[in-house]
Amino acid sequence: MDLPALPPIDSLRGAFAGRLITDPRDLEPFLVDWRRRYFGRAIAAAIPDTVEGVAAVVRWCAAHRVAVVPQGGNTGMSGAATPDDSGRSVVLSLARLKRVRAIDTVNNSITVEAGCTLAEVRAAAQAAGRLFPLSLPSEGSCTIGGNLSTNAGGVAVLRYGNARELCLGLEVVTADGETWHGLRGLRKDNTGYDLRDLFVGSEGTLGVITAATLKLYPLPAAQVTAMAALDDPHAALRLLEQAQSALGSSLTAFELISDLCLELVAKHFPDHRRPFAQPSPYYVLLETSDSEGETHATAAFEALMERALDTGIVRDAVVATSGAQSRALWALRELISEAQSATGNNIKHDVSVPISSIGDFVERTNAELAQRFPGIRLVVFGHLGDGNLHYNVSPPVDRCGPEHEAEFLALQPAINRVTHDSVHAFGGSISAEHGLGQLRRDESARYKSAIEMALMRRVKQALDPLGIMNPGKVLPPG
Ligand code: FAD
Ligand code: MLT
Ligand code: ZN
Repeated sequence: MDLPALPPIDSLRGAFAGRLITDPRDLEPFLVDWRRRYFGRAIAAAIPDTVEGVAAVVRWCAAHRVAVVPQGGNTGMSGAATPDDSGRSVVLSLARLKRVRAIDTVNNSITVEAGCTLAEVRAAAQAAGRLFPLSLPSEGSCTIGGNLSTNAGGVAVLRYGNARELCLGLEVVTADGETWHGLRGLRKDNTGYDLRDLFVGSEGTLGVITAATLKLYPLPAAQVTAMAALDDPHAALRLLEQAQSALGSSLTAFELISDLCLELVAKHFPDHRRPFAQPSPYYVLLETSDSEGETHATAAFEALMERALDTGIVRDAVVATSGAQSRALWALRELISEAQSATGNNIKHDVSVPISSIGDFVERTNAELAQRFPGIRLVVFGHLGDGNLHYNVSPPVDRCGPEHEAEFLALQPAINRVTHDSVHAFGGSISAEHGLGQLRRDESARYKSAIEMALMRRVKQALDPLGIMNPGKVLPPG
């Protein structure tokens, strides 16, 4: 289809209040993803000051058939916030929509604009004596708009759910530049299709989230962190069962970590080391959020760890006795991504399987990959408590250098295929929390039914008939 000639960029500059970035040097950070895997092109990056400005930018793009690529903190892991290489895109950054519009501690809700970082929202809730429980290692940079658009998960899903379950209402600028004011803070609203749920997880392909009303929770009286050393994911599952029966819903985090993760963290962040004298094949980092207080929480954890040691489920365990110790244990977990990136190229997977299958999935997939790709190393970590693993592959230790990058990354399709076919065989998902973006877009058609693909295309056609919203993401072409 012939596209109309692009109008002078000044017509966009004059259309809204905010910043318009066109200088190539200033534009560069908007055109590459956090992993530096995807590089795109754009006419400009528009950073409106207001919701009306967002709508004006979208209307300009619709009128001139220019793609809109919404961007928050640009920390996404699937290349979904990076424009394609057509050069006919505007990156629409929500960075200036930063207001906390309302907090209602009786309704237990907070209304914030899309450009607020997750850390800012958590801090605003805390200042009001409440908890906003979404918690990701990227919370200092990622934004609420991105969290909702990727339906982010993080470390507290097993207790509080993912971004979708924490969202009560949305304000969205639609693909034709209209604004849907849906910021109702209701737990119950059965008046037609759930439009909110269409936009959550849509990765910028259906509309631009400009604000959200989110659930708040009571602040826990105490949070206690522990780390256990164990043999394998099967043992971790047995510990999870014991933890959930001992701690109930106060168990708020249960993260699996393989030893190579901590080896990489120690290599790149030497101050951060295993808290045990001897290494172990795996570790679990767990946290309890207790309403009764520190003494009760610590006693419950110590009893749990004693039982786990007595029953041989864990080899060793440590319970943090101070905030500093707790933060040190969490740093070991939160630095894994950066440590793996610092080690060079890696092939990442963000998969989920039924929690009870995790041990068998890891065992079977490790064996198949080791047989097919001798020497590769598995960096396995993630949110075992909700069945989501970051099952990442690093090159053999003697092939980590940049000179081997192309050769190793050439294995990605085959390694993805083995891993994702195994996930599928266990009834799992090839993207648990990072979305499909560009990275998983084409593979999704292998694992989704024809009717699912057709229904998603109909939704896309209905809400973005011009196809200007973040083209090339989520749905394979054609
Ligand atoms: P961006 O990367 O800017 O955009 C992501 C997607 O959302 C794109 O499709 C974009 O178009 C769309 N988008 C952004 N803002 C809007 C908006 N206002 N309206 C419509 N669409 C929009 N993710 C997890 O789920 N769990 C984790 O534990 C986790 N840990 C991480 C750790 C590290 C160190 C890093 C770097 C990333 C991690 N992530 C994790 C991935 C990432 O932080 C999340 O996907 C996050 O939700 C992205 O938010 P963002 O604002 O950076 O979005
Ligand atoms: C995490 O849980 O740390 C993230 O999802 C990031 C990653 O997969 O690297
Ligand atoms: Zn994660």
